[in-house]
Amino acid sequence: MKRVLSGIQPSGVLTIGNYIGAMRQFVALQHEADCFFCIVDLHALTVPQDPAALHRQTLDLAALYLAVGLDPKKVTLFVQSHVPAHAELGWLLQCLAYFGEMSRMTQFKEKSAGKESVSVGLFTYPALMAADILLYQADLVPVGEDQKQHVELTRDLAERFNHRFGETFRVPEPLIPKVGARIMSLDDPTKKMSKSNPNPNSYISLLDPPEVIQRKIRRAVTDSEAEVRYDPERKPAVSNLMEIYSQLAGISLEEVAERYRGKGYGVFKQDLAEVVVSALAPIQERYRELRESPELLRILDEGAEKAAAVAEATLRTVKERMGLVLPARYRQR
Ligand code: AMP
Ligand code: TRP
Repeated sequence: MKRVLSGIQPSGVLTIGNYIGAMRQFVALQHEADCFFCIVDLHALTVPQDPAALHRQTLDLAALYLAVGLDPKKVTLFVQSHVPAHAELGWLLQCLAYFGEMSRMTQFKEKSAGKESVSVGLFTYPALMAADILLYQADLVPVGEDQKQHVELTRDLAERFNHRFGETFRVPEPLIPKVGARIMSLDDPTKKMSKSNPNPNSYISLLDPPEVIQRKIRRAVTDSEAEVRYDPERKPAVSNLMEIYSQLAGISLEEVAERYRGKGYGVFKQDLAEVVVSALAPIQERYRELRESPELLRILDEGAEKAAAVAEATLRTVKERMGLVLPARYRQR
């Protein structure tokens, strides 16, 4: 059985971009692979977070993971900071990674552009992500398009380690969906839809109520030529809305185009809002049940225990190969 690992930051309520680009793959994969899904709270700390909000959003995200259909009997769901091996291997990999290759990471360039104070953690972020993946000897890393470069860096670090210290890490592959890997912002189709965008009209959150979804879709930018046609080059805004429709209604882009031929944007947007509302309704209902349930922390505790067992075994080998004297917790076993 293949081993899968992926992570999502608890840095805001998830958007339909996260859902279409990442989470839906997770749900499908749980039936065919040994899956580890991580709430990467240490990654969220690379940019300033309000402590109360971070705390709340971590539990929100845990409940959402389950609400979209992950079964804690099938997958290991855990919080990154609950398994100290992540921070430890993150450091070891920082000492293997080169300043030059880290400087080429486009996510760092985007997130640091124009900012006065940027944390060192934001720069070394990809080494921690590599640790997340390599600790579990993952074969596959399901992510959206934007994370491909980080997975490639992870592969480079794994190969470098193996070459220098002996075969230790499995070299993972990114698993990027063919469609829906990049859902764009509703107010600007040249930017990816992101939960950290300060304008809430630019995204649809998985927890937005129906009226809000309707309003946001009504306001979404389109273009002057009122034709529902898929043409990402010349009609990026409408094409993005069609992609959301196609993904959430489970029909092809051709079918969407066929359905709205000669109908204009008004009807299309109204129907799209309905498609989104009905796709999210069952998720929101399960979310509300889980969020306040004592089950939630119990599931995370169990997940951390299962994850730590796997992660510690890898970390022990890594330390041994690098020449570190093993601490008592490893020698006693
Ligand atoms: P993040 O919100 O940056 O922690 O991303 C969590 C996961 O969602 C990653 O696998 C991303 O690649 C994916 N993702 C984030 N935004 C989008 C988007 N607009 N379209 C598709 N996938 C996305
Ligand atoms: N960097 C990822 C993102 O912003 C989140 C992440 C952290 C991740 N660790 C990971 C994704 C490990 C996949 C595997 O989306």
